[in-house]
Amino acid sequence: MADERLKSADESARVSERCHVHRVSHGSAIVEGPAPAALLASLAMDPGLDRFRQPREQQKALIEIAGLEEGSIYIAHKDGVLVGYVTFHPPDELERWGQVKLPGLLELGAIEVAPGWRRAGIGYALLRLAFAGDYMEGYIVIATEYCWHWDLKGTGLSVWEYQKVLQKVMGSVGLEPRATDDPEITSHAANMLMVRIGSRVPFETVTRFEAMRYQNRWVF
Ligand SMILES: CC(C)(COP(=O)(O)OP(=O)(O)OC[C@H]1O[C@@H](n2cnc3c(N)ncnc32)[C@H](O)[C@@H]1OP(=O)(O)O)[C@@H](O)C(=O)NCCC(=O)NCCS
Repeated sequence: MADERLKSADESARVSERCHVHRVSHGSAIVEGPAPAALLASLAMDPGLDRFRQPREQQKALIEIAGLEEGSIYIAHKDGVLVGYVTFHPPDELERWGQVKLPGLLELGAIEVAPGWRRAGIGYALLRLAFAGDYMEGYIVIATEYCWHWDLKGTGLSVWEYQKVLQKVMGSVGLEPRATDDPEITSHAANMLMVRIGSRVPFETVTRFEAMRYQNRWVF
């Protein structure tokens, strides 16, 4: 599959790792990435992929992210239908994390698996693939977890149980909860900032990121 987004040696190193077949009890889904915009446009959306937007709108957003210089999408699909994805992109300028435009900072924007495909290891598989190889070692990856996106109704989990599930899923690739005074995150006690600092991230970048976590210091 042609992929015009493979620009650097770093990215080329990911090619061999970017596609594998993930077998689940009700068939085999292909897990691959980074998915080019053309592939995303060619797939139908599972109608259950509606946690963040209606599926058609979410597909447009995924295509847009795939076209960004530092955007990437890892997907799970079966028979031409997208059944799961995880997105990475530079943080939005409207959020604290995007205001400084810190080079080397990426946001895991969303991970979603269609309800009929959940609890079969696809969430793990998407993340494992995204963090395979050395590429992500050059990045600080954050995930801002807001409980209003969580499928509490569909899963029957409490907000605290759901929080634990997300810690486990994200923790499988080394994202850990970190404290912050970001008002959106602190607006609900179950929300989380999760962070993974790659082993090749320069000390200065880490220092600048740590300064972003707490901005409302008060002097008494
Ligand atoms: C969170 C989500 C992506 C997980 O995807 P998934 O493919 O079901 O996850 P996996 O099958 O890889 O499971 C990962 C782990 O979480 C556990 N888990 C997943 N869903 C669970 C549930 N509803 N109840 C309890 N445990 C659950 C699995 O058992 C597994 O843990 P284990 O290794 O101890 O067995 C999926 O539930 C989802 O799309 N939720 C809606 C969107 C969302 O909340 N996204 C996160 C915010 S960005």
